[in-house]
Amino acid sequence: MNATPPRPRLVKTVDELRGILDGVRRSGRRIGLVPTMGALHEGHLSLIRASKAEYDYTVVTIFVNPSQFGLGEDLTEYPRTLDADMDALTGCGADLVLAPSDEEVYRPGHATWVEVGAGAEPLEGRHRPGHFRGVATVVLKLFNMVGAQAAYFGQKDYQQVLVIKLMVADLDLPIEIRVCPIIREPDGLAMSSRNACLSPDARQQALVLWKSLCLAGELVEQGECDTRIIAERMRQTIAMAKDARIDYVALVDPDTLEPVDRVEGRTLAAVAVHIENTRLIDNCLLKAES
Ligand code: PAJ
Repeated sequence: MNATPPRPRLVKTVDELRGILDGVRRSGRRIGLVPTMGALHEGHLSLIRASKAEYDYTVVTIFVNPSQFGLGEDLTEYPRTLDADMDALTGCGADLVLAPSDEEVYRPGHATWVEVGAGAEPLEGRHRPGHFRGVATVVLKLFNMVGAQAAYFGQKDYQQVLVIKLMVADLDLPIEIRVCPIIREPDGLAMSSRNACLSPDARQQALVLWKSLCLAGELVEQGECDTRIIAERMRQTIAMAKDARIDYVALVDPDTLEPVDRVEGRTLAAVAVHIENTRLIDNCLLKAES
């Protein structure tokens, strides 16, 4: 007999969520949280599986957070696919989904924000002013709504994880932050909800992000340590896509995100590129032989 895989329960309000989670906690179960903006793909599902493997009860939040989108960014075009997301979640280990409205998360008159520090300034921060203030604020709110023991994030958004870890340390938040590897399409493109916005031609061009990161890895393997040379070669690779517009190609210290002159030990290679109208990011850690 084939058992139907369990579909997680869907709630829309924080009151409903808390009612259920009070019971979960009373029964001694430990809770893992996976915050998302929906349009779920294997990258998101990998975080849910990791939570399922380590915690007794997994809560997924689906909320396209308006406060992390800047003027002229893709808030209105961002894919919203709740029915398909619930299907994708069936059988993958999520127990409860919170999909709140904007008003449920930001009550009228909402006026309290998390001020993020220097970790939020370079890279994404420079190109998306206010982005991490919005991310940190909503993530703190989600932490407070759910009261999980751990929250799962992807290395895909490397700086986001850094900013959240700093917030957790600075504000003494009682939660573990777990970081999971980047899940890629078979051809190397990092999975992203925004990939759905790419035309077939742009989807092909988008491969230059991964190609540029692979090239950086190869150059380091061949003994090249000069980050100016590596970054220049990466830019040339990206420029081979006719509709690519680079926001940044960066080789930085993975802990401080400060630029480095030479690849010594671990160095983060991070890229942000617009392909047609879609902004994509990707990164990888480079390791020089010592
Ligand atoms: P979203 O872009 O939906 O991503 C949710 C989580 O999935 C993030 O931790 C992200 O790093 C992770 N993720 C995305 N693509 C991935 C991939 N290819 N492999 C592994 N993990 C991947 O990031 C956000 O939403 C929001 O900023 C949020 C944290 C929910 C706050 O609004």
